[in-house]
Amino acid sequence: MTISFDSYPSADGLWTDLRLPFQPGTSVAIVVEHGIVRWIGSPDSMPKDFSGLPTHEGGDALVTPGLVDCHTHLVYGGQRANEFAMRLAGASYEEVAKAGGGIVASVRATREASEDELFSSASHRLQSLLSEGVCAIEIKSGYGLALEHERKQLRVARRLARAHGVTVRTTFLGAHALPPEYAGRPHGSRDYIDLVCNEMLPALAAEGLVDAVDVFCERIAFSLAETEQVFKAAQALGLPIKLHAEQLSDMGGAALAARYDALSCDHIEHLSQAGIDAMREAGTVAVLLPGAFYTLRDTQLPPIAALRAAGVPMAVSTDHNPGTSPVLSLLLMVNMACTLFRLTVPEAIDGVTVHAARALGLQETHGTLAVGRPANFVLWDLQDAAELAYWFGQRPVRTVVRQGKIALGSNRT
Ligand code: NIG
Ligand code: FE
Repeated sequence: MTISFDSYPSADGLWTDLRLPFQPGTSVAIVVEHGIVRWIGSPDSMPKDFSGLPTHEGGDALVTPGLVDCHTHLVYGGQRANEFAMRLAGASYEEVAKAGGGIVASVRATREASEDELFSSASHRLQSLLSEGVCAIEIKSGYGLALEHERKQLRVARRLARAHGVTVRTTFLGAHALPPEYAGRPHGSRDYIDLVCNEMLPALAAEGLVDAVDVFCERIAFSLAETEQVFKAAQALGLPIKLHAEQLSDMGGAALAARYDALSCDHIEHLSQAGIDAMREAGTVAVLLPGAFYTLRDTQLPPIAALRAAGVPMAVSTDHNPGTSPVLSLLLMVNMACTLFRLTVPEAIDGVTVHAARALGLQETHGTLAVGRPANFVLWDLQDAAELAYWFGQRPVRTVVRQGKIALGSNRT
């Protein structure tokens, strides 16, 4: 695949005839200079100096900030359609994992794949998300589970950022599952977590490959005490933390993560009120993952009403991964967050913009349209912002401006 983000046309100039979500009847213009948003407002109040700029006709499009996909496992080898079939025949996620499938199946395939192979397959998947207006994305490791293979995944994530001109935040998820070579050893889990904390994380952080640290805290993965050990190692290196928390059971992970000022707790179907209170105190974002909920045919809904009542910011993400959420549409997650989790449409849109940016620590640069920020915005062929949640299975994107360039769409020429 040949990608030449550098050769995309500049988005500099005056963008006219746009509408903001939920503000019917108002027109807005945006001025982009050197790839940065210089001005936004009603065309009537635009300073005269801007009127001579090259104009990009918006054609009455709806405009939103570039979308942010704040939780993905985008880089991996192989696929796991066989598990889909096993689950159709009645097996649970935990039973599949115990039968040697699950995360470790992807670990085998990821270890076998070269860096170029991983780059190529992940590029293909990334294109799908970018074509829907994603301008920033988190990519986790966690399918290598050994230094060289975790490094390979994180290097691919960095390479994807450069090749596609997209903001990528890398998250080290060495504590995703027990590697096969540690399973069955007397102190396998303890030894592996020691390796994660004392060798893998410091080495990868020193190579500049780690923006945040995550753990799968669950009865089929790592305990609360092991999770805290990883958090301490992250804290010692000054790295922010995130957590796969309370997905299958209430382990108390969210409250622990909040004590370490976590950026986000993700999944949280079984989150308790104590966890919610701790997250509110710490300003931790709740990341909702309806794709995994749907694929696993989960019946335990995340506590949306209680999160809303507490004022905990809610983000929405694909959780793209080959096991529990093989989805490549963030807009479909917006739809499902509304349909399955009963978010309102504005909540779901905030969930893939402003709150998703915060879940990655990117709130100063992404997730809102504001003066002084890199130009990341999407023009939609839609009348009403509610259509962002209403349609599914189509991509109503007209134009994507990413990192100050016209990355996709009708304003390209
Ligand atoms: O976010 N919950 C743990 N990790 C992934 C699933 C990974 C897999 O099954 O490969 C998740 O759902
Ligand atoms: Fe995940």
